[in-house]
Amino acid sequence: MKLPMIIVHGGAGSWKDERIPVGIEYIEKAARVGFKVLKNSGSALDAAEACTLFMESCGSLNAGKGARPNQDGVLELDAMIVDGSSLQFGSVGAITGIQNPISLARYIMEKTDYNFFAGENAKRVYDRMIEEGYRQEIESGVVETVNISPSGDTVGCLVVDSDGNIAATSSTGGIPKKLPGRVGDSPVMGAGAYANDVCGASATGWGEHIMRVVLSRMTVLYVEEGLDVMVAAKKGMDMFEKKTGSEAGIIVADKSGNHGYATNAKAMPIAIIKGELDTLESHACLE
Ligand code: GLY
Repeated sequence: MKLPMIIVHGGAGSWKDERIPVGIEYIEKAARVGFKVLKNSGSALDAAEACTLFMESCGSLNAGKGARPNQDGVLELDAMIVDGSSLQFGSVGAITGIQNPISLARYIMEKTDYNFFAGENAKRVYDRMIEEGYRQEIESGVVETVNISPSGDTVGCLVVDSDGNIAATSSTGGIPKKLPGRVGDSPVMGAGAYANDVCGASATGWGEHIMRVVLSRMTVLYVEEGLDVMVAAKKGMDMFEKKTGSEAGIIVADKSGNHGYATNAKAMPIAIIKGELDTLESHACLE
């Protein structure tokens, strides 16, 4: 049984060997959190938000509380959630002072007439979200990293529910030593993530280069054109490396629950659950 399913990545990058098991531990937990939501009749979006929120809150991955600081030492976060069944998305860029941008991204998608907010004014939308009780604040005013600098890049997941609806996420603190105000691929529809009614993808890596080739959308297109999902993931990465010479990784899942992944970085921890919780498998996806 392939559905419902979840595939999670903890970021492609130059993981220190001793950090890889830690990354795997947290994404396994995140996959379980998301899958349990699905099993309790949650939607693909509910599960994708819960899974990503866990990764943002764990403090050990490059997102939310554990994000890499910018050059000012501030956690400046980007995130996106995509609903493949409606082709809707919500994005937030360069937001500070919050821990869970993924919930704000979903609020933007579901409760505003817009798709993308950035910077100080995105925080005003966040405050409105809390005031309205859409989500409760978990921890505010987060400005300093709480853990050792993460080894990986952006986190993300893909969820396919039992009806074949696909949700995709991405969430990040961005690249090392980024200039304040810089926004990467993660909140950019089609670049950092993408999903439609056929397939979804979520990317991780050097955002400036991922945006140049619209990596997630291109990889989904390969599946729409008939490629096997794993082959499409590898073709996406080959295309990315050939055109940019840069490093990235991608996870892919189609509406039937077939999955794929590929990276040209040292490692990209991934975890997958299909059908039942005890099918969980994980590995470092070494290059
Ligand atoms: N992929 C994350 C970033 O470039 O910000």
